[in-house]
Amino acid sequence: MSIQSLIIDCDPGVDDAVALFLAFAAPELELLAVCTVGGNVPAHLTQRNARIVRQIAGREDVPVYGGAERPLKRPPAGAGDFHGPEGLGDLEPFEPTGIIGDGPAANAIVDLVMKRPAGSVAVAVLGPMTNLALAMKRERRLADHLGPVVVMGGARSEGGNITASAEFNIWADPDAAAVVFASGCDVIAFGLDATHQVRATEPRIRALQALRSEPARATAALLRFSQRVEREANGAEAPPLHDPCPIAWLLKPELFSLKPCRIEVETASELTRGHTAVEFRVDPATARHRWATTADGQGVFDLLTDTLKPA
Ligand code: BDR
Ligand code: CA
Repeated sequence: MSIQSLIIDCDPGVDDAVALFLAFAAPELELLAVCTVGGNVPAHLTQRNARIVRQIAGREDVPVYGGAERPLKRPPAGAGDFHGPEGLGDLEPFEPTGIIGDGPAANAIVDLVMKRPAGSVAVAVLGPMTNLALAMKRERRLADHLGPVVVMGGARSEGGNITASAEFNIWADPDAAAVVFASGCDVIAFGLDATHQVRATEPRIRALQALRSEPARATAALLRFSQRVEREANGAEAPPLHDPCPIAWLLKPELFSLKPCRIEVETASELTRGHTAVEFRVDPATARHRWATTADGQGVFDLLTDTLKPA
């Protein structure tokens, strides 16, 4: 089994929390740190929520670093309607015992990546890309030193989920996303085109609910909350599961198909703010970006269920 070193940057968030439970339980990942950013809920809550998830997962060995409270140039966004006012749906929040890492998330990203061999540390960005953009501004050599950057963000065929053309994570901090996509690092983007193919259907939630472990029970409760929100907002039964997709790809790439591309982000227009222009007319040999076009929804849920199964 080959082990991938990984930093997760996220804004928990119900689906971020599910992604964290998956990553915390996966033996194929060496989780160097969890970084948090203001996004779905304010930064002090995303940081606390990451520590709650870490405690439930029994992974206090993994440091959590708090990060940017606001996007590079815009006021903070928020998606409390989809995640609950405190960000973890129906999970009863509590003050976790585990401590917060020293210094801001952007510094931690620079330090952890630069002290390891070039190309060896992957970064998964599951929220606005503010921390990674700040890290790139702080250390100009970072983009060249990074391993794969796997992100949940963007929309092409599916259209947006926050405006007609933009997906939440990119819309929330389009300036940061533009920095990351233009940096020259390898980015694999899981936008709504792929994540809408991964749905928390009733049997899939039940399979998780049946497992006798705290992380599995918490995951099922988070998905139940999303199911209720989806029912109320769209009259549909099976909510999409976004943030676990990049983590699932690291663990089982065969669950997704990717297409080489060049991704640019709209920052100038208010109307199309955060639109991801995904250009497939590129030379595959030199393209630095890849766009997920298909996802095996059942495969992603099987992976989640198998990984959260108690030993
Ligand atoms: C993304 O937006 C957030 O609300 C979710 O956590 C996910 O990262 C989906 O558009
Ligand atoms: Ca998120």
